[in-house]
Amino acid sequence: MSFDLILFGGTGDLTWRKLMPALFQAWRHGQLPPGGRILAVARDDRTHEAYRDFIRERFTEVDSAKRPSDEEFAGFARLLFYRRMDLSQPEHYAGLKHWVEAPSADEGRADGPADTVVLFLATSPHLFPEICAQLGATGLNGPRVRVVLEKPLGHDLASAREINRAVRAAFTEEQALRIDHYLGKPAVQNLMALRFGNALFEPLWRRESISHIEITIAESLGVGTRGDFYDRTGALRDMIQNHALQLLTMIAMEPPSSSDADAIRDEKLKVLKSLRPFTAASVERDVVRGQYRAGTVQGQGVVGYLDEAKVPADSRCETFVALRTGVENWRWAGVPFYLRTGKRLPGRDAQIVVHFRAVPHSIFPGPARANKLVIKLQPEDGLELHLMAAKGSGTHERLSPVRLDLDFDKAFPSERVGAYEKLLLDAIAGRLNLFVRSDEQEQAWQWVEPVLRHWEADSEGPRAYAAGTWGPPASSAMVARDGNAWDEEA
Ligand code: BG6
Repeated sequence: MSFDLILFGGTGDLTWRKLMPALFQAWRHGQLPPGGRILAVARDDRTHEAYRDFIRERFTEVDSAKRPSDEEFAGFARLLFYRRMDLSQPEHYAGLKHWVEAPSADEGRADGPADTVVLFLATSPHLFPEICAQLGATGLNGPRVRVVLEKPLGHDLASAREINRAVRAAFTEEQALRIDHYLGKPAVQNLMALRFGNALFEPLWRRESISHIEITIAESLGVGTRGDFYDRTGALRDMIQNHALQLLTMIAMEPPSSSDADAIRDEKLKVLKSLRPFTAASVERDVVRGQYRAGTVQGQGVVGYLDEAKVPADSRCETFVALRTGVENWRWAGVPFYLRTGKRLPGRDAQIVVHFRAVPHSIFPGPARANKLVIKLQPEDGLELHLMAAKGSGTHERLSPVRLDLDFDKAFPSERVGAYEKLLLDAIAGRLNLFVRSDEQEQAWQWVEPVLRHWEADSEGPRAYAAGTWGPPASSAMVARDGNAWDEEA
């Protein structure tokens, strides 16, 4: 199956930091279908060769394991092409259409148009409506075309709807692939396998056996060079509305009737619709926002958020959010779901912890710890099942915690693929399971919207926390009200 992958925003950060390294890995792993071309489009004038040099140089800045040797780069670079485009000019889209539909042997294709055309919009999202309208008007939206949209998809519900309307005017829902790169992480696919490929957990996966669930996405990095973008966004929009909620749907969804993309997405949508809606009172009680101050992260002194480049000195933008919610259905009624994310926390650490209920009656001396299942997303990718075992003998026998530890990187060493590599290969192959449908995305916006509105009207602003800590103490206090504790405090 031959393909043309066209990257709008072909010289931007996302393209060289994430997409090109992922495409190179897919090529290196022999996973890219044969007969592929990758065309970067951007505003400035460059030759194909100059673009390849630009990418070669940028590769020196990515993770060393993902860097090509000279020989490898020469092989990969044969797939790369460049085209100048002013995205407001209809004739430039007509030129692109010609490039796709009447390809030349000089530009990598001698045997007619590709079977599949994937248009990846790695530009600023405010350009999406215009690009989609122009693609539609030019006829670059036929059945073999798919469009991939990168977040942030909107700033709130109204702007997300506007983007979706523009996309729908040119493409069908099946042609529009919304990326949430967390869904491409191997641990998320393992979570599906754990829940729906094994009979063991399903009978326990409910309120009768589970007391509460934590989802943490912690980052040690600050906002880096993205201060201007981040300050308009904040942690709720940047991480909770998309990544954390997508993880929540994967944990809480009912078993789908098949592995068909819509069967899965229908179930995820039901979870989003069942989330307890926020009111002004529940935002006050169940949502904590924070902003980092100077501190020490992994032994390094770092500045506070307000001293970061391109951040206004009086910013009220949150760099941390912890919240408590619930899924209001028969399976999950009464089970708290705690979500937490932040920048400048003690480490890069993403995990889901499923806490099971304690034994109803203990016959052993001393306190018994309840079982828990830790699903680790990063830095390592694995599962830990925490159990109690007998330790000692005779009169000294007591219970002691042990854990079954499964490290997927070790279990399947050569088969782990990165999130963008997985999602790009899926986009080329037309596998939609791991892309977000517009109704899911709008529902997620609808759910966070009361929090955004409440904060806009609230004069207090975020609570300070020292960089290198787990956020404001109010986050621990919120969980403690239910008699629980975040995993690292338990
Ligand atoms: C992005 C956010 O979606 O996810 C960034 O915009 C964040 O702010 C990043 O740093 C985290 O992704 P990962 O895969 O490094 O955990």
